Amino acid sequence: MPQLAYFKKKLVPIEQANVSILTHAFNYGTSCFEGIRGNWNEQEGTTYVFRAAEHFDRLRQSSKLLMIKIPHTTEELITIMSELVAKCGYREDIYIRPVAYKGQHAVANLRLHALEDDFHMLVMPLGNYLDVTKGQKCMTSTWRRIDDMAISPRAKTGGGYINSALAKTEAVLNGYDEAIMLTNEGHVSEGSGENIFLLSRGKLMTPAVTDNVLVGITRDAIMKVAKDELGIETMERSIDRTELYNADEVFLTGTAAHLTPVVEIDHREIADGKIGSVTKKLQDMYFDIIRGKNKKYSNWCLPISIAK
Ligand SMILES: Cc1ncc(COP(=O)(O)O)c(C=O)c1O
Repeated sequence: MPQLAYFKKKLVPIEQANVSILTHAFNYGTSCFEGIRGNWNEQEGTTYVFRAAEHFDRLRQSSKLLMIKIPHTTEELITIMSELVAKCGYREDIYIRPVAYKGQHAVANLRLHALEDDFHMLVMPLGNYLDVTKGQKCMTSTWRRIDDMAISPRAKTGGGYINSALAKTEAVLNGYDEAIMLTNEGHVSEGSGENIFLLSRGKLMTPAVTDNVLVGITRDAIMKVAKDELGIETMERSIDRTELYNADEVFLTGTAAHLTPVVEIDHREIADGKIGSVTKKLQDMYFDIIRGKNKKYSNWCLPISIAK
């Protein structure tokens, strides 16, 4: 199976898609990227790409912060992605990674407006990022979430993910599955690569977008599904750390992480320490939706048939 990448405006074998050590983005983290899922539907021999247009729109917003011009419209990006996915031919779940970056060979130059841009896209197989079947054990990170006043968490920038890597590494080395970061003010923000929700007295809550979260596309999908299918509204507001401990259910959402239950935080069990029933219902519906099995949400899924 050929592993291809879209690089310098054409599809090439991945071994040929290389950048120099002089590349600005490599030296300074001046890249922005997206993570998009293609979800394999075995019965249909089709990969369903979830909410591609929203991901490319967010990439454009991230690139605005870094003054990077993406040389394609969203429609063109979807065409490139579809060709790349079809030609790579993975018959399993995949992860699509478009990256827009300061591609100029330049060090000792921090003037974003004066640097040339580049763009590439790759696709790779990716199963579960977190164990979606098992409730996760999380820790409140000692690292604070980056702030909009420093590196905006609203943009998915390469450099910004040092914050996530520090938190994730600390959590895993301490025996936890995932980190939950707080804002500088002490409000719950998000996981290292996921948004967070809690259920309390039948109501869903998630941190407000002003609490330094990446405005997640899965977050948005889950809020819609919870409302439309279960009649549960989600309140977006600042959340304190101990509200998580006292919640009836907690879960994480993200393109890589899907919808992953959390059963313990900082050695405190959430409710009875088992996966909650609302979490399970939302997770089941979400998995059907992303594999194109719930036609009501087919406008979120782009089918790409994969040749045998
Ligand atoms: C820090 C962070 N928060 C939240 C998310 C979830 O966002 P989405 O659902 O759009 O993938 C991600 C994943 O991209 C992330 O990296």
